[in-house]
Amino acid sequence: MKNYITTPIYYVNGEAHIGHAYTTFIADALARHSRLIGNETYFLTGTDEHGQKIEESAKKQNKPTQQFADEISATFRNLWDEFDVSYDQFIRTTDESHKKGVQAAFEKMVANGDVYKDFYEGNYCVSCETFFPESQLMDGGCCPDCGRPTTIVKEESYFFRLSKYEKPLMEYYEAHPDFILPKSRRNEVMSFVRGGLNDLSVTRTSFSWGVHLPASLNEPKHVMYVWLDALMNYVTALGYGGNEEKMGFWPANVQLVGKDILRFHAIYWPAFLMSLGLPLPKHIGAHGWWTRDGEKMSKSKGNVVDPREVAKHYGVENFRYFMMREVPFGQDGDFSQRALIDRLNSDLSNDLGNLLNRIIGMSEKYSDFAINSADVEKYHSRELNDAHTLLDSLPPYLEELQLHRYLEELWKVFTIGNKAIEEHAPWTKIKEGRTDEALATVALVANLLAKASVMLHGIMPHTTATIADALGFAINTQSYNDLIVDKKLLAPFTIKKIPPLFPRVEEPLMAEAPKAMIEEAPKAVEPKKEDKKESTVPAEGLITIDQFFQTSLKIGTVVEAEEVPKSSKLLKLQVDLGEESPRQIIAGIREYYSAESLVGTQVCVVANLKPAKLMGMLSEGMLLAAKDSEGLCLVRPEKPRLSGSSIG
Ligand code: MSP
Repeated sequence: MKNYITTPIYYVNGEAHIGHAYTTFIADALARHSRLIGNETYFLTGTDEHGQKIEESAKKQNKPTQQFADEISATFRNLWDEFDVSYDQFIRTTDESHKKGVQAAFEKMVANGDVYKDFYEGNYCVSCETFFPESQLMDGGCCPDCGRPTTIVKEESYFFRLSKYEKPLMEYYEAHPDFILPKSRRNEVMSFVRGGLNDLSVTRTSFSWGVHLPASLNEPKHVMYVWLDALMNYVTALGYGGNEEKMGFWPANVQLVGKDILRFHAIYWPAFLMSLGLPLPKHIGAHGWWTRDGEKMSKSKGNVVDPREVAKHYGVENFRYFMMREVPFGQDGDFSQRALIDRLNSDLSNDLGNLLNRIIGMSEKYSDFAINSADVEKYHSRELNDAHTLLDSLPPYLEELQLHRYLEELWKVFTIGNKAIEEHAPWTKIKEGRTDEALATVALVANLLAKASVMLHGIMPHTTATIADALGFAINTQSYNDLIVDKKLLAPFTIKKIPPLFPRVEEPLMAEAPKAMIEEAPKAVEPKKEDKKESTVPAEGLITIDQFFQTSLKIGTVVEAEEVPKSSKLLKLQVDLGEESPRQIIAGIREYYSAESLVGTQVCVVANLKPAKLMGMLSEGMLLAAKDSEGLCLVRPEKPRLSGSSIG
């Protein structure tokens, strides 16, 4: 099977942070696993280098734009190389072949009547040379970037007939429920499209750092809208409009994106593809944001975490594992060294590392490192069956991009191994002279480790290669077929004694990191003495615990949010409480939160309030929030929890 996997192409206006590393790690894990299981795989990443912002960033640094783009693009590429990301191609939108491909696509869209010339009218900030939609303007129609007044400007532009694709897109979403992953994001996209699509302005005359229109149109002033240019990279990389040798990889299997750019990938991109007569990708996977102290990481806020630093101190593969295991795909996650250390210690040192150390230690003592699987079936068929059942259940998690669940389930194989050692206590059996049984348990665990390592390979390629080497085999398609598909056992081998792979970490290692990054380790609590103190809580109005539990409090995930027209206070939210469909909640929080900042975040909801109508709109719950003289803030879970988890 052909399997094409892509990341977004990263803007070259700043260096990579852990958010970028996250997407790239996931794509790399999927690509490596795909190659392992024998798929013909093509993994694309790259940089997005056109547009006014990049032109400006270069100007600020007094550099020619191309030189500026070359330099930043190289920092991305170098970082991925340092992290051993196994991309097959690194595309740049300044590549000549890409530009030609975009022009060919534009010509085709003009020829089939999907692109026409008209005027673009909007609120324009002269100082920032940018149009802003009404909804982004500040009070008095001022520019959200520099605060200066904007003016209504009319600019000649080519338009793409996006409106024509409203119906075909809806039909496509209906017919392909897993086009958008996680599935919870599908509603958000569908309701946006249902709300009506305007034709899209796809050329600009206000700047020149972009792909020029095809010469046949004789429009030297126009350059392509950056998103048309950028999205096309996914097919120009395969040679669209030029040498189309690799077009056989299209349609892509998985296109990974952050939730902020889902709309471009789930609406514009498929519409462009339909216009070009190309099939649509199988899945668009939208992940959440990595935040610091609950805020999105961005260079302008100065709260970015440098992936190089994290990798330097904790190891790149431990870091990869942490990112993929810690946060459910699609949800936001807060980066903290504490969480990283806890994961490392519990999952890698305790579960995986200990198991390996135990079998190295036991085989050394009992059999001079020799391991033989001959008696495993005889003494441990139950454990083996359980492990095979677990391993068989894994692929759908990967297909749905539920990497955290994939890893959670995979880890159960280690639990089987640890339990087997405890239950069968090989050390006792050795004393009793039942050497065969003792060695069979050691061999069982070696096999479980081997099989789990194969399935963990995409996520921790080098670590698992080291484990496999210690266990006398190499991870490749052949061993995948033997150990996983055909459920075979390892041939007799001599285990290699290797030093512990995952030393425990006690203290944060990035001491020189910005202060906000180092969370305090929880302090040991003094044992409680019998409390003789009388309660001073005012007796009036007290309720019993049973009365408290009459209130159903739940964790909800905001899947859609919009402003309520004619209200300065209200936002209309669709909140997923793990029920069949999201609840509509009208919340008076607009003065403190923008609608878009809420989408994808979690909130605490009073779930058994009688539905009420606010400004004629049904509200099916209430959000918990705290208010003081500084304003209002929502009460949120400290870590992401499943939608619908109960609070109490
Ligand atoms: N150039 C566009 C993408 C064009 S794709 C045809 C772009 N670039 S970006 O550099 O701003 O962002 C690239 C990706 O990084 C996006 O998927 C975005 O969601 C992701 N992230 C940016 N900040 C992030 C976090 N803090 N956390 C996780 N991912 C984040 O958008």
